[in-house]
Amino acid sequence: MPRTLILYATTEGHTAWIVERIAQRLRGQGHTAETHRADNLPTGLNPAAFDGVIVGSSIHYGHHPRYLCALVRRYREVLALRPSAFFSVSLSAGGPGAKPEAAQRYLDTFLRQVNWQPAQTTSFAGALQYSKYGRFKRWLMRMIVGIAGGDIDPTRDYEYTDWDAVERFADTFAQRLKQA
Ligand SMILES: Cc1cc2nc3c(=O)[nH]c(=O)nc-3n(C[C@H](O)[C@H](O)[C@H](O)COP(=O)(O)O)c2cc1C
Repeated sequence: MPRTLILYATTEGHTAWIVERIAQRLRGQGHTAETHRADNLPTGLNPAAFDGVIVGSSIHYGHHPRYLCALVRRYREVLALRPSAFFSVSLSAGGPGAKPEAAQRYLDTFLRQVNWQPAQTTSFAGALQYSKYGRFKRWLMRMIVGIAGGDIDPTRDYEYTDWDAVERFADTFAQRLKQA
């Protein structure tokens, strides 16, 4: 039974939903999938004990979090020796006012910074979760999103993720593990 480790960084929790969908999809194909927040790893976690590793992270203020960079650098050799994949989550990747070229730039910059070249990478559209933002963040997001032509009703949340694309990502990873 192939074992996959999924490490992720999230602020408002949407990336955790994407991770859960990927894990469910892998489990449905007979895999074991273990998921951990990158800022709260269990002591003694050994990525080398897994057949494959997926890393996912959302973008805030144009960056993936520093602690994720540090984590990938720490595990770089382990990642290089087994199938690995990276996905980035942002509003640039999809939804009204999306800027796919910016999403690609976030992804490329991160991988260059951490010196990692996974064979499988993608960007998923994230969510606007006004209900989870404090007063300042809500104001800021409405301003930024409004300028970009996005959704600005603060009384509701918006989700732009293409869940079929998330499942296809998991399927491709499962296929790669099988071939490895
Ligand atoms: C304060 C803040 C800053 C953000 N900055 C960016 C950004 O620079 N570029 C972008 O494409 N999306 C940006 N986003 C959108 C997030 O990437 C998106 O909401 C994502 O779904 C968050 O995922 P998470 O809940 O897993 O943290 C930002 C969101 C927030 C709340």
